[in-house]
Amino acid sequence: MQLWICPVLAFLLGSIPFGLFIARLKGIDIRAHGSGNIGATNVLRVVGKQYGITCLFLDLLKGYIPIVIAINLIQIDGKAIVPHLGFLDGLAMHLPVEKQFTGQLVHVITALCAVLGHNYSPWVGFKGGKGIATSGGVLLGLMPAAVVLLILVWIILFVTTRYVSIASIGAAAALPVLTHIGARFHKNADGISLWEAGTWNKPLFFFSLTIGLLAIWKHRTNIQRLREGTEHRFSRNNTKES
Ligand code: G3P
Repeated sequence: MQLWICPVLAFLLGSIPFGLFIARLKGIDIRAHGSGNIGATNVLRVVGKQYGITCLFLDLLKGYIPIVIAINLIQIDGKAIVPHLGFLDGLAMHLPVEKQFTGQLVHVITALCAVLGHNYSPWVGFKGGKGIATSGGVLLGLMPAAVVLLILVWIILFVTTRYVSIASIGAAAALPVLTHIGARFHKNADGISLWEAGTWNKPLFFFSLTIGLLAIWKHRTNIQRLREGTEHRFSRNNTKES
């Protein structure tokens, strides 16, 4: 039961269009303003800073929650990196390390479903957001260390260019590279890199590659605008655009 309930729950949670709801509180249809995207950047741009930050937090949470539930429900011995949800103990499956591939596969499919739910939400005609915040949420559960590095990449690109889209595309491109490098340097108890030991997390790498490419694909209109010189750009001293 846990094997399929996690991805379904993730898709349903991911599909909640928080940006649309938040903008509606101010009587605005976010899809008709700014970039037309339902994500936090456009909410901040069109509705205001607090609304954008709230949207970012909620979009992140709808990625993080299903992953925390999945990791609690399908536990791989010695691998838990998320808060323990005691009330799920009765339902939890315990997999030995030898079976970790199956568990990791369910975890990454759950994560992918949360991002797909956001990007292709049925509640907004399958035209959802670009998945950056929700991807951040699922990654926070799956590999928190990578999130720290990705935020660093994002900040450097944003501060130097003032384009949110360039920062997001750069972080999306960096994700599979970081996962790949991480596996090479992460060593097992015998001091052998996980890559060489053949125990590196293959589902996690292909998941990183998939959501990285998906995020870049969802930014294709931004890429077009960047090429035409019409992309929305934030000015240096405040959140307003120039
Ligand atoms: O996360 C989305 C961001 O990278 C771009 O948003 O509204 O400028 O298309 P937007």
